[in-house]
Amino acid sequence: MSLSRRSGFPRLPNALARLVAEAGPLLDLTSSNPTKWGFTQPNAVAGLANPKGSRYAPDPRGALDTREAISRYYARRDVALGPERLVLSASSSEAYGWLFKLLCDPGEVVLAPEPSYPLFPFLAALEGVSLTPYPLVRADGFRIDLPALRARIEAEPRARAVLVVHPANPTGTLVADDERDALLELCRAHDLALIADEVFFDYRTGHASSFAGTDTDVLTFVLSGLSKVALLPQLKLGWTAVCGPEALRVEALDRLELIADCYLGVTTAVQLAAPAILDAVDPWQDTLRARLHHNRARLLAHCADTALTVMPSEGGWYALVELPRTRSDDAWIELLVREEAIAVQPGYFYDIAEPGTVVLSLLLSPEVFDDAVGRLVACVTANA
Ligand SMILES: Cc1ncc(COP(=O)(O)O)c(C=O)c1O
Repeated sequence: MSLSRRSGFPRLPNALARLVAEAGPLLDLTSSNPTKWGFTQPNAVAGLANPKGSRYAPDPRGALDTREAISRYYARRDVALGPERLVLSASSSEAYGWLFKLLCDPGEVVLAPEPSYPLFPFLAALEGVSLTPYPLVRADGFRIDLPALRARIEAEPRARAVLVVHPANPTGTLVADDERDALLELCRAHDLALIADEVFFDYRTGHASSFAGTDTDVLTFVLSGLSKVALLPQLKLGWTAVCGPEALRVEALDRLELIADCYLGVTTAVQLAAPAILDAVDPWQDTLRARLHHNRARLLAHCADTALTVMPSEGGWYALVELPRTRSDDAWIELLVREEAIAVQPGYFYDIAEPGTVVLSLLLSPEVFDDAVGRLVACVTANA
């Protein structure tokens, strides 16, 4: 028998994965797991043991108490979003799958930014959906190339939705208000839905508006979840907020409810624990924001007056650093692994077209980050 074409992804480790596997312990500047870098929250996890969780009474959209806590979380951010507009999922990745099922029949198309988060092609392919990339302009801080996006939409009659990441991963670029208006106009003109991934929105450093607060006539889905909002990826709770014209919004929510009902993948335990977690999330976020700010400042200090350039960012957990183009990305990474036992990701993992860009996580403990970046800069400087 044969298995589906859509599940036949290449699985052999690439050259960098083999290099890292052979190298022994590394200072891992790729790690964006908050629980590894001091953000463990035993009290939050203890909330999973709520005895009320011994009864099972699932609501496919997610428990009302939990959705109300998410509404409160948005209200503290001046976004009015009632619980009736929310559907819970086990993660934003799962929510992507549901949105692709909701919006697309097999073979239909979602436009997605390039460079971007490398999971999207997998999530789309698993639903039989095609992703058509639209470019972000590196010279313009990775802003959306709106004329190119328009041209791709016009050339693609099977397009059903445009996906934006706000702020983007890994570039950290926000969707500016005028870009948002242009995006909405494009979606309106071509009858497309908008999917706005805001998992990093609380970690923006520039001004921007949430798509969840946009009073729009375009059907808009805003994704977020505990993994980034509360630094608790292991709890598995995401949500989708649905905005847009009432009739379409209600129909989309009813259909999402049915899709969610087929899986009921969100545990009762996490739904019971989430209100206390969300109500107490702001100080955790302050601590993380301070860490991101501190590590970025140290990175800038290390790279000042060297051949390395830190690219500007408006948010998120990552930094892009340009290395001298005297070696290939793989050659730089191999040198860093072998000489300094440091792991970084090449930009091409995220479809950054130009060579010479590496992606670093800003989540690491300050002393580990400082040590790793100091060694990285010294090694690149000595070998440029
Ligand atoms: C842009 C973006 N969207 C979604 C996700 C997935 O988040 P979740 O843990 O909620 O599935 C990630 C994870 O890193 C991400 O970077």
